[in-house]
Parts: sequence; structure tokens; C-alpha cells
Amino acid sequence: MAEIKSVAVIGAGQMGSGIAQLAVTHGLDVWLLDTDSHALSRATASISSSVQRLVSKSQISKEVGADAMRRLRCTSNLEDLHSADIIIEAILESEDIKKKLFSDLDRIAKSSAILASNTSSISITRLASATQRPSQVIGMHFMNPPPLMKLVEIIRGADTSEETYTMTKSLADRFGKITVYSQDYAGFIVNRILMPMINEAFHTLYTGVATKEDIDMGMKLGTNHPMGPLELADFIGLDICLSIMNVLHKGLGDPKYVPCPLLVQYVDSGRLGRKRGIGVYNYSRSPKSSPRL
Ligand code: CAA
Repeated sequence: MAEIKSVAVIGAGQMGSGIAQLAVTHGLDVWLLDTDSHALSRATASISSSVQRLVSKSQISKEVGADAMRRLRCTSNLEDLHSADIIIEAILESEDIKKKLFSDLDRIAKSSAILASNTSSISITRLASATQRPSQVIGMHFMNPPPLMKLVEIIRGADTSEETYTMTKSLADRFGKITVYSQDYAGFIVNRILMPMINEAFHTLYTGVATKEDIDMGMKLGTNHPMGPLELADFIGLDICLSIMNVLHKGLGDPKYVPCPLLVQYVDSGRLGRKRGIGVYNYSRSPKSSPRL
């Protein structure tokens, strides 16, 4: 079985740049691709500052830090990804756009390359059907923020081979992650359980059971979660939460997955969470501090 030496990551948002950071700091060559050159510049600056911070805390050596930054290359040209052993897609959660991308990747990637998706809930089997190599397509779902969160969820599509699974798991092991394995059903493990909880927190707010602060405090202190569900929803992005609830509802058919009207209304009004400065909470006055409203 071949060893993965070079990784390509598509999408230079928070997830993509976090995955690229993990790969370069673990000695892999990385192509980071985005069509937006500003996103690439932001990602490079953020990876560089995180790497410096890791060096200053002696979590990695100066040499590893310098080596990591040399290993990172950015591009907007898909053809550059030809040499990658694995391509991890972390673009927006649209099945149509992802399918088109997988079909393009199938054309340009070398024949042995694995095509992985960081999708939070879209079917790996359906993404694989857009390629001529379904046995080499797999889900590799990192949690946000990828450098800090210990888990990677691995999802095999209907035709994913044992070799693809083993190589993908070895890569996650190399990143120092713990892996769990899920069958390819809507939401996999984490979002199947997390999103209904977040949706229920919206219902609790919507029906006036409690204030947002008390809902979050109740769950933080009552169940030892690092963030309350509404604060976490803002952190993930309310549009992403809504889209995952819709995938759960459509994929599993149970009315218990219908998105809460308040979540839908926030998304309709552009209150998408931290990334927009406003979601359930207002972050505009002090983006890095605790939420307020
Ligand atoms: N690389 C390396 N280190 C980093 C970093 C990065 N990219 N970003 C931050 N750090 C470091 C910081 O420098 C800091 O180090 P020091 O303590 O030495 O200063 C340390 O990590 C902690 O950073 P913060 O103080 O900013 O963070 P925190 O202690 O408040 O924790 C958190 C932040 C990890 C996000 C925590 O609040 C948490 O665990 N929240 C819950 C997150 C969660 O549940 N994520 C999963 C969401 S679900 C998902 O992702 C699936 C999906 O599909 C939607």
C-alpha cells in the first residue's frame, strides 16, 4: 500500500486552511487551492501565525515550523493538483457544486489518488457516483477548528475500498487524530446527534422557555460542553446548521428533523453567526470576546 506524501486541499476557508495546517505541520507537501486569491492570502497568513504560535509554545520545533511553511503552496489552478496522493475537498455544502468538482478532480487527479470530502452530511456514495473511481472516494470529516479538535469521522461510500479506508485512516492517525467510522447515512454520527440538539435549543428559545444566555449556560455547566448549543451554532455558522437539518430531514424523512422556524428566519435575515458578526448573539462590538446582545 502506497504512503501518502502529498496532500491537496480545496477551499481555503476555516476548515480547508486548518486541514492544510495539519498536513504541513506533519511533514506533508500541500497544495491549497481556492478560486479566490484573497482567501488564499488570508489562509496563508492564518497558517503562518498559528505555526509561529506553535513554535513559541514549543509544541513544534523551529525547524518543523520553517519546514511547514516551505511545504505549503497555493494555487487557483486545478491542474496543479495532479501530483497529490489525496485531495481533500472542503468547499461549500452544495451537492451539485461538489459533484461537479469531483467529476473535474476525477479527470485531473493521478489514477491512484484518493478523493476525499470533508462534507458534514452530504452522501459520499452520491459524490462518488460523479467519478469513474468510486472505490477511491471517501468522507474525511474534520471538526471545527481542525487543528484543535481531536476527532476525524471517516465515512465509506457504498463502493469505497478497504485500501482507501486504511490509507485515509493512516493519514488521520498521522495528524494525531482519533477516528470514528460511520456508514454513509445523512449526518453520519456527529451531526446526526449534534444538529437536532442545536435545533432543539432554537425551539427552546423560539417558544420562550428560556433566554439564550440561560439555554447556553444550562448546557455548558449542566452537561460540561465547552460551548452552549446556540453559541456553538454561531461558531459553526447558522446557514451550515440549517443546511444539515435539511439534509437530515430529506435523507431520513422524519418530521423531527424539520428546522426550527427561528433558525430559518435568522438565516433568511443574514444572521449567519460569528462569520457575519451577528447570529444568535451580536459580535460586532468585540468579535473575539464573549457574545453579547
Ligand atoms: N492551530 C493551533 N493552535 C490554535 C489554533 C490553530 N489553528 N487556533 C487556536 N489555537 C490555540 C490557541 O492559540 C490557544 O492556545 P493557548 O491556550 O496556548 O493560548 C488554544 O488553541 C486555545 O485557543 P482559544 O483560547 O481561542 O480557545 P478555547 O480554549 O476558548 O477553545 C474551542 C476554543 C476549541 C473552539 C472550544 O471552545 C471548543 O471546543 N468549542 C467547541 C467546538 C466544537 O464543538 N467543534 C465542533 C463543531 S461541529 C463540527 O465541526 C462538525 C460540523 O460538521 C458542523
